[in-house]
Amino acid sequence: MYSAAITGSGVFTPEHSISNDELVAAFNAYADQFNAENAAAIEAGTVTAKPHSSSDFIFAASGIERRYVLDKSGVLDPARMFPSLPDRSDDEPSLMAEMAVDAARTALAQAGKTAADVDAVICAASNHERAYPAIAVEIQQMLEIDGFAFDMNVACSSATFGIQTATDMIKSGSICSALVVCPEICSAHLEWRDRDCHFIFGDVATALLIERDENLDGPHFKIKSTRLATKFSNNIRNNNGFLRRTRDQMDDRRDMQFMQNGRKVFKEVLPMVSTHIADHMAEEDLQADALKRLWLHQANKTMNDYIGKKVLGRVPDAGEQPNILQDYANTSSAGSIIAFSKYSDDLAAGDFGLICSFGAGYSVGSVIVERSG
Ligand code: COA
Repeated sequence: MYSAAITGSGVFTPEHSISNDELVAAFNAYADQFNAENAAAIEAGTVTAKPHSSSDFIFAASGIERRYVLDKSGVLDPARMFPSLPDRSDDEPSLMAEMAVDAARTALAQAGKTAADVDAVICAASNHERAYPAIAVEIQQMLEIDGFAFDMNVACSSATFGIQTATDMIKSGSICSALVVCPEICSAHLEWRDRDCHFIFGDVATALLIERDENLDGPHFKIKSTRLATKFSNNIRNNNGFLRRTRDQMDDRRDMQFMQNGRKVFKEVLPMVSTHIADHMAEEDLQADALKRLWLHQANKTMNDYIGKKVLGRVPDAGEQPNILQDYANTSSAGSIIAFSKYSDDLAAGDFGLICSFGAGYSVGSVIVERSG
């Protein structure tokens, strides 16, 4: 049996960012317009008026201050409230592949490796731009990688499920290395006209290079152990599957985009995640005081504060549990990997850290790593 290590990571960050104030101004203009157009029906009680959103609420409820998006103008146009991402021809690279390739090149460069060193590509994300051919196979071709590639989807937990999948293939000896990429275009499955969730998501892509842990020269993170769990819930759901996509249903189907019962998610996922991490650490005989860093899924600051405290048995010191959601918002599967990529260089050889993602399914995945080299 071989072992595996993370040898490189990369993040592609879109150039456009939307602050809470910009987002709220667009939403409120849309709401005013809607209310004016439906004034008679609102007066008659047959249509509900749309209340204003507020930057203060968004920050207090989530900790989010801004989010990156592939297209800003379409999202902030009160008459549109949806990104303008022109269709690409079949001869052009898909958007997800392009973002993932950018992040993958950074991960390869960090590891001092090239495409020739990679055996497989896993594109692990919450939504895929098309049914097939797999985005991962397109990424494989763009990077000129031999071997194989496939897409997988476990919503916000896709990254850790992808890491375990790659790690298990490396351990068994069927491959020596894999790129696990998480390109997330959350802006295109978010209903920007829904006040309860319009602030939640942003766009990004991440990549990790995972290699057989043998003769590695550079700094790397040994993957000590992985643990996954799922439990069915409808509280985070998107019905946009091909069976439902009939022409007459498309325009007014709110359920064809991200839907959640945020309060229930909050209450049900927190204990599931805290118990999952505690059990994983106990199984590995890892004590809380030996854990130098927690790279958590980035959905909500209060949630992360709670998990950090539960796992460490005290309020984490600054830097022990870094959040990136203030700048990126929730980027689905990519969140914990952005945190890992930006806040892992300073760990010393022998330090332990834990990556954890959680979300729709419900699903939760954790990865215990040890810095080496
Ligand atoms: N601006 C102003 N007020 C708003 C608002 C907005 N944008 N959105 C909601 N409100 C109002 C609500 O209408 C509600 O008003 P009421 O008390 O008069 O009914 C009040 O603020 C509280 O709304 P609620 O939805 O209960 O807020 P919350 O404190 O639960 O925060 C979330 C909402 C989504 C941030 C929070 O529930 C959450 O993060 N949950 C977990 C989400 C998660 O992890 N999801 C995984 C996704 S992958």
